[in-house]
Amino acid sequence: MSKKGLTDIVPEDIARENPAVNAESVTKSFTRWQRKETPGGSDKENDSEKEAQGSRKGISWKESIRTIFRQEKKTVTALDGVSFQVGKGEFVAYAGPNGAGKSTTMKLLSGMLQPTSGTLSVLGMSPVRDRIALMKRLGVLFGNRTELWWDHPVIQSFEWKKVVWDIPDEVYQRNLDMVTELLDMGEIRNTFARELSLGQRMRADLGLMLLHSPEVILLDEPTLGLDVVAKRQMIDFLKRINQEEGVTILVTSHDMDDLEEMARRILMISGGKLVYDGSFDGLREITGNLTHFTVITDGRQPELAGCRLLGEQNGVFEFEVDLSQLPIRELLGKLSKAEGIMDMEIKKAPIELVIAQLYQTWKST
Ligand SMILES: Nc1ncnc2c1ncn2[C@@H]1O[C@H](COP(=O)(O)OP(=O)(O)O)[C@@H](O)[C@H]1O
Ligand SMILES: [Mg+2]
Repeated sequence: MSKKGLTDIVPEDIARENPAVNAESVTKSFTRWQRKETPGGSDKENDSEKEAQGSRKGISWKESIRTIFRQEKKTVTALDGVSFQVGKGEFVAYAGPNGAGKSTTMKLLSGMLQPTSGTLSVLGMSPVRDRIALMKRLGVLFGNRTELWWDHPVIQSFEWKKVVWDIPDEVYQRNLDMVTELLDMGEIRNTFARELSLGQRMRADLGLMLLHSPEVILLDEPTLGLDVVAKRQMIDFLKRINQEEGVTILVTSHDMDDLEEMARRILMISGGKLVYDGSFDGLREITGNLTHFTVITDGRQPELAGCRLLGEQNGVFEFEVDLSQLPIRELLGKLSKAEGIMDMEIKKAPIELVIAQLYQTWKST
């Protein structure tokens, strides 16, 4: 495998020449049946009254239900004309709030879904048409799903994959050694999958996914639900395989903090549309550096000029501040002078707010 680090790569050039991932005007629509309530049907008391009346008049139970709810066909456009490229060796964050279309994109790239229109390719192959050939060079991890055999020790799933995927001995051994060491899997290997904590399960799934030396890996919400330590481990490991092994990584999350720690480039999606593609710094130039922080006091409200108070509960005050206007050093200076402060915590603005800022900036320009 190449030892090329991210610093040697100029992503823009490579992305254009020979992209690892290419999406052009991709649209994906789903048709969904959902029940439509008839007028007045939302009132529960009313419903049971109607039902009671219905049965008194000899109307069947099924018919009376049908009068309350009707099925309605609805088209959901999960992705709407999305185009982007990821160069070989890049580590790209795919961000967006819940329901934005992140998982749909990952499913399309791994051939689990077919686009309604537009074209997709991974390593020059079509995810649906060339699925088998592509799977040999691609790794996919959905954080909310496991590929491990639930009632077997982890190592058994690993050995099973070696056989089914026909992984050569030396490749298997080298990758097994690497993931065992870097993911601290010594103990986990012999544990039954169902007995693992979420963090351990995620590490085991990640290890399993890497056994066949994939060149491109797609990770959907791999940090979701992990505690601080498990998250740290996952992030450090991903950065390492990107830098040392040159693995191309596309990772989704709705947590900006996690993504910024890993990737240099961020694709942001909102309501199925790509709304930003660039660096984190570039994003901040547009949206400012909105940050939320909470301070715990003895009950007194701290006076912090330049910060907006969002709310207070039992002596915990939440503020919003734009760190591009009020540098962190000045904020800390103000906090050290304020009276009654016992503790504080800083958190990046939630992704919904960043997107709202993006839209606002566009509207005003
Ligand atoms: N199989 C499906 N059938 C119908 N609607 C779907 C299906 N999968 C996703 N959607 C809808 O598409 C939109 C995007 O979903 P998803 O890609 O899962 O978002 P995200 O991963 O960003 O939270 C949502 O409105 C979701 O309800
Ligand atoms: Mg999702």
